[in-house]
Amino acid sequence: MLKGKTVILGVTGGIAAYKSATLVSRLKNLGADVWVVMTAEATKLVGPLTFRTLSGNPVITDLFAEEIAGLPVPHITLAKKADLLVIAPCTANVIGKMAHGLADDALTTIALAATAPKLLAPAMNCEMWRNRGVQENLKKLKDQAIKFVGPVEGKLACGDDDIGRMAEPETILEEVVRWLGGSDDLKGKHILVTAGGTREAIDPVRYIANHSSGKMGYALAEAARARGATVTLIAANVDRPAPLDIKPVKVGSAAEMLGVVMDNQGKADAIIMAAAVGDFKVKNQKSKVKKNAGKIDLELEENADIIATVAKQKGKKGRKLIGFALETEDLIQNAKLKMKNKGLDLIVANGPDTFGSEQATVSIINQAGKVENLPKLPKSEIANRILDAVLRL
Ligand code: CTP
Repeated sequence: MLKGKTVILGVTGGIAAYKSATLVSRLKNLGADVWVVMTAEATKLVGPLTFRTLSGNPVITDLFAEEIAGLPVPHITLAKKADLLVIAPCTANVIGKMAHGLADDALTTIALAATAPKLLAPAMNCEMWRNRGVQENLKKLKDQAIKFVGPVEGKLACGDDDIGRMAEPETILEEVVRWLGGSDDLKGKHILVTAGGTREAIDPVRYIANHSSGKMGYALAEAARARGATVTLIAANVDRPAPLDIKPVKVGSAAEMLGVVMDNQGKADAIIMAAAVGDFKVKNQKSKVKKNAGKIDLELEENADIIATVAKQKGKKGRKLIGFALETEDLIQNAKLKMKNKGLDLIVANGPDTFGSEQATVSIINQAGKVENLPKLPKSEIANRILDAVLRL
C-alpha cells in the first residue's frame, strides 16, 4: 500500500517513543521506506539500534554523524526524499520549535527543510497539553496545514488519567495510509461494520461473553474509511481507541446490536458482520443469583441471528452482506454452509486462534465457491483484502 513512499519518522523524548517501534514495523509491512530521526532525549528512552533494525535504514540522531556522511547535505537530502514527515511522539518542546521556525537539532532542521506534508502525534502531560503557550503553538502549526493525530485520553506516565497519551500506532498508521496510500475506491459507499463480542446478562452482576477483541472489525472500519467510504461502526464491548473520523455506536447485548443494525441497515451498501454475537441469552434473568442453593441452572434461549434477519429485509439496491465464520473443524465446508443458510454474498472463515491477535489466517469465500486462502497477515491487511473481495462482488 505504501510501496515507493518515503516516510521520515521523527521520534522525540516522550515515554510513548517505544510505541513508535511498532509504527516503524507497520509502515515497513506496508512497503514504505522509513527513515527515523531521533532527538537526543528520545535516544535515552529507546535505543537507535531498535529503529535501525526495524527500518533497515541508518537512524539520524546528529546531522554531523559519520553514518549519514554519505548523504550530501543530509538534512536537505532527507527532507527532499520525504513523502510524509511523521513525528510520533511529538513533545511540547518540538511543537514549540516548529511553531517558531527553530532548528537546533537534526529533527527540527529536517522538519524546517521538508516541504512534504507533516503529521504530528503529540504526547505529553495533560497540564502541559492544556498550557496556553502550547495551545497557541498548536494553532500556529494548524494554520500551516500541519495535521495532528491525538493526543487521546488515558493513563499518563505521571499516573493521571487524562488527555495527553499518544494516539495508538494503528491510528497514526491509518492517517499515514489515508495520506499516502489512500485510494478512493469506496468513495460514495456506505459500509456498516459490526465489531467486538456481545454480552448476555446472567443477572445484574454477571454476563456470558466471548473472547472477541474487536480488532478485526475496527481494522475493517479503518480500512473502509481510508478508502473513502462512509462508515457506521457498531461496537460491542470493544476496549480500543475509536478509529480516526469514526464514532462507534456502542452496544452491549446481541438484542441491542440487532436493534442498531436494523436502524442503520437501510442506508448501507455493504454490511460486514465481524462481531462475535452470542447465540444464546439467559431466560428470565432478574435479581442477583445467590450461591446458597449450591448449584445453579441457567435456562438459555436463542438470540435472533442478526445477519440472517438483515438478509430478509429489503435493503439498498446492490447491497452486499458479508459474514465471518468461526469454526473449529471443517472450516471451509462449514463456512460455505453458513454463507448459504444466512443468505450472504461473501464469508470470511477463520479459526479461534485469531481472537485478540494482531495477525490472522483467513479464507475468503464467495457464493460461486471460490476460496481465497490468505497467508498469516496483519488484520489491517486482511481488512483491505476483504474490501477488495467486496468490490469484486
Ligand atoms: N451472527 C449474527 N447473529 C448471530 C450469530 C452470528 O449475525 N446471532 C453472524 C456473525 O457476526 C458472523 C456469522 O453470523 O458474521 C457467523 O457467526 P458464527 O458465530 O461463526 O456462527 P453461528 O451462526 O453463531 O453458528 P455456530 O455458532 O453454530 O457455528
